Amino acid sequence: MRLDVVTIFPEYLEPLNVSLVGKARARGQLDVHVHDLRDWTYDRHNTVDDTPYGGGPGMVMKTEPWGEALDAALADGYESGAHGPVMVVPTPSGRPFTQELAVELSERPWLIFTPARYEGIDRRVMDEYATRMPVYEVSIGDYVLAGGEAAVLVVTEAVARLLPGVLGNAESHRDDSFAPGEMANLLEGPVYTKPPRWRGREIPEVLLSGHHGKIARWRRDEAFRRTARGLPPHRAEPPRPDRALRGLRLRQEGPRDPEHPGLETVRRRPILAQAGGRGRIGGCCVLAYAPATGGSSSAG
Ligand code: ADE
Repeated sequence: MRLDVVTIFPEYLEPLNVSLVGKARARGQLDVHVHDLRDWTYDRHNTVDDTPYGGGPGMVMKTEPWGEALDAALADGYESGAHGPVMVVPTPSGRPFTQELAVELSERPWLIFTPARYEGIDRRVMDEYATRMPVYEVSIGDYVLAGGEAAVLVVTEAVARLLPGVLGNAESHRDDSFAPGEMANLLEGPVYTKPPRWRGREIPEVLLSGHHGKIARWRRDEAFRRTARGLPPHRAEPPRPDRALRGLRLRQEGPRDPEHPGLETVRRRPILAQAGGRGRIGGCCVLAYAPATGGSSSAG
């Protein structure tokens, strides 16, 4: 797999030389190219950003350096025989990065990451390249980082370990939490190693039984048990707001959002644990859906 990263902080990507990803590179399983966006600026200050049209705080990354940098990365890749590029744009407003998406990306031969700083990249850049290749806007969580580089490291590590031959044991990601197949929607259960007794704590007896069927069943039961205790919010099935609102009322907890007076921001975890659903408004507010009969107060 070929990876290109265009960034104003190439040094931020140094961890791609370390551990699993570093080894995959050394073995030729991953071909990583980090590019400095400022190489495609021509003014004294190597400017990559400008004020937003329409006003507002912060700065927006300019079209021209991104366009030139991406064209150059693409030309270089094609010249070296790469094909089938996919652009991955880390952004908090993107689609949640999940194990399923990691699997999907790991099946692509070429990923081009465009981590942004400031308020993000001028929209026209994504629109332009979307005419040439799939563009995935991806969020690694509901929080805002200072830039997308850390997200590139997260996505790369999750993807790289899925590449054929990268993990020592070809089976070892089959049992990952969220892995499509048997473990889809399940959290991985606990694991143990030697010694069998530590500070008075024993390991579950079944693991010493040598009975593969029993051990497999125990692992699955543990995964169910852990999952039942609480699926993390990003794995809770998000109901489509239109569908979710039908026949349901919204719990009222926490301050109202002035832009959406009928709804409100809620404390996410406890409500999610209770209601098992969420939605998003403007990328920041979280709605909890509760049965019409439930909830301490409600808005319709
Ligand atoms: N850039 C800033 N915050 C981000 C997030 N949560 N996910 C991906 N990219 C980001």
